[in-house]
Amino acid sequence: MSKHALSLVTLAAGLFFGAYPSAYADEPATMEAESRQVAQDLLKQLGGTLKAQIAASGPESAVPVCRDVAPKLAGQASLAKGWKVARVGTRTRNSLLGMPDAWEQEVLARFQQRLAAGEKLESMEFSQVVQEPAGGSSFRYMKAIGMQQQCVACHGPQDQIAPGMKAMLDQNYPHDQATGYTPGQLRGAVTIKRPI
Ligand code: HEC
Repeated sequence: MSKHALSLVTLAAGLFFGAYPSAYADEPATMEAESRQVAQDLLKQLGGTLKAQIAASGPESAVPVCRDVAPKLAGQASLAKGWKVARVGTRTRNSLLGMPDAWEQEVLARFQQRLAAGEKLESMEFSQVVQEPAGGSSFRYMKAIGMQQQCVACHGPQDQIAPGMKAMLDQNYPHDQATGYTPGQLRGAVTIKRPI
């Protein structure tokens, strides 16, 4: 086929797919791309807010960002999309909100293996269409959250958490298990569940 004819075919395919996007909305690849976008936006907003707050008033002032802003942003994304968007941890500070379910635990375990095998956390993700025991199915997606330097003040090894911060965490989260992380480790994941 000539170069010219090939580009016409490409153009026609582009027009076709472009004209009927809704026909493909339930394709796993489309759902994965949409989920990735939501997860990335959430992490970007969260990281930006956290950084700005720590720079302006120190780490202790940023506790409400991780405590209130993260669930709020996840809740907004859930409402906007009609999906369940949340954040889970490999170990949790707030087990009420951050505890992974069985499927999420399995994916986190696989993320740990992939990390150990040398894969980068920044782009690590997994998605699957899952049959629910009660009937119906859902599209599930997880995007890894890596531990960064700016998280150490609150999730790092005990000896790197300031006494004031430690007291505040002890008071608010008596069952806190989300310390002892070092940068580069898997901290958790953004998780999305979408009924299909
Ligand atoms: C200023 C303190 C602070 C900083 C800095 C901080 N966090 Fe948190 N983090 C918290 C608190 C408090 C919670 C509990 C939130 C709640 O009550 O739901 C939490 C919860 C989480 C959770 C949910 C799972 C759980 O443990 O309950 C994840 C995931 C998480 N943080 C990741 C991070 C990452 C990644 C960073 C760095 C980019 C970070 N945090 C920085 C204080 C902090």
